[in-house]
Amino acid sequence: MALRVLVADPDEDWLYATKEFLEKQMYVVDIVSNGKDAQLSLYNNSYFAIVLNHDVKNHNGVQVLKFIKTNYTNQRVVMIFNSNPEEEISDSDLAEYEDDLRKMGATEIIKKPFENEFLAGTLEGHQGLTDMISHLPRSKEVSDEEEINGDDADYSSIKIEDFYSAKAVLFDIFIRLSSGRYIKILHSGDNFSKDRIDKYKNEKKVEFLYFHKKDRRKFIQFNNWVTQKMLKNAAATAELKVGMLKNVSEKFIEEVFKEGLKPQVIDQGKEICESVYQLIEGEPSLYKVLKSFQDFDPNAYTHAFLTTLYSTAIIKQFEWQSKATIENTALACMFHDIGKMKLSKEILAKKPGDMSEEELEEYQKHPEYGVEMVEGSRMINISIKQMILQHHENYDGSGFPHQKKGKKVLTLANIIHLADEFVHLMIASDKKPTEALRMMLGDKEMVKCFNSTIIENFIKVFVDPGKIKKEFILPSNSKVLKKTG
Ligand SMILES: [Fe+2]
Ligand SMILES: [Fe+2]
Repeated sequence: MALRVLVADPDEDWLYATKEFLEKQMYVVDIVSNGKDAQLSLYNNSYFAIVLNHDVKNHNGVQVLKFIKTNYTNQRVVMIFNSNPEEEISDSDLAEYEDDLRKMGATEIIKKPFENEFLAGTLEGHQGLTDMISHLPRSKEVSDEEEINGDDADYSSIKIEDFYSAKAVLFDIFIRLSSGRYIKILHSGDNFSKDRIDKYKNEKKVEFLYFHKKDRRKFIQFNNWVTQKMLKNAAATAELKVGMLKNVSEKFIEEVFKEGLKPQVIDQGKEICESVYQLIEGEPSLYKVLKSFQDFDPNAYTHAFLTTLYSTAIIKQFEWQSKATIENTALACMFHDIGKMKLSKEILAKKPGDMSEEELEEYQKHPEYGVEMVEGSRMINISIKQMILQHHENYDGSGFPHQKKGKKVLTLANIIHLADEFVHLMIASDKKPTEALRMMLGDKEMVKCFNSTIIENFIKVFVDPGKIKKEFILPSNSKVLKKTG
């Protein structure tokens, strides 16, 4: 999936230099020197972004912008101004004019002269990826396939249909022949070859691609970046968005569980939590996916992702919700069971109901172990730590580790606890979300574990937000909740 960009500028030397630069990054670049040609290109192609000089002739920048706004409402447009010292415009007039252009649909406004890197950064809105790509040694074509022996433990898999790529391959990509035997089908720095991937997918019926675990962070960074683009795309379905976020979150959680909580890793987590927020906040048909989610994969990473998804969807129903609350809770959800890493394999293999008294005692320490593990990290705030600590406390005081009761149980922790139990139930009993919901609500002992307002808001998660009647909304508890949130 190479990203295509259109650059429209009257300065042809600059056009060619910019094209050359952007092509070295990861883009397919079309260039035009006037507004009319820009419109024609827009008509014939779809673009990730358009870089548009305000002063193009033969349909000026504003006319082209209006054309875009009318015909391609979600198009990303970076508008360029030529700085002209002879033309005296006051700063306030300029600011007002820029505001008008933004209203007309300019996503970003930048002034010449600027460095190529600055333009690339503006296009991506993500400097980190630019750095990553610019440091990538590039070859002109696609290297030969190469068979290698490797340890299965060093590779991480991704479903072939979930694989996205830039124009350049950012990390080595393999297929697995048998245990310990892989073929490197694309090398880092190669031009991306869709043909090669398609050959394995269609002719050889390969279902998974593999990458080396040392490249997992690159994979996460790139995929979160693609996911963020997709989240802004109104034409993409909610299923696709959830699926992309699931892939990137699971690889992130895997990285945390395998490599520990390094600062760079947590930084990536924060970026993913922003994507979670974008999905929760911006996707009106999310409830359909939450209602019908079926891709059950009983591993720990899927569990943590689904807990994140349902917890944040519940928070969205509360009046006091905010971006920070959703993002903090998302991070807490991804880490909620990290303390389990300190438990023995024997304990982890058992369900709590099958554990001996000592084993159960040890198991119930996992929330405290979790807090110990994140303790040293500056980036994990107190609210996140409290959520991890309390994710098994019950509203009726029967939970662990501290048997907190009633209002002493943090609302956000109680929300995670509910989502966590729900996901367990759904996966263990292989039930559809709505069936698992019914089972949960029918279990009186279970219902007592949660604040009733949370349960009411949980039910709303499965309802079309457009159809929730006003009287359904319960503002009564908001005072208490604000205090705990
Ligand atoms: Fe837990
Ligand atoms: Fe859990």
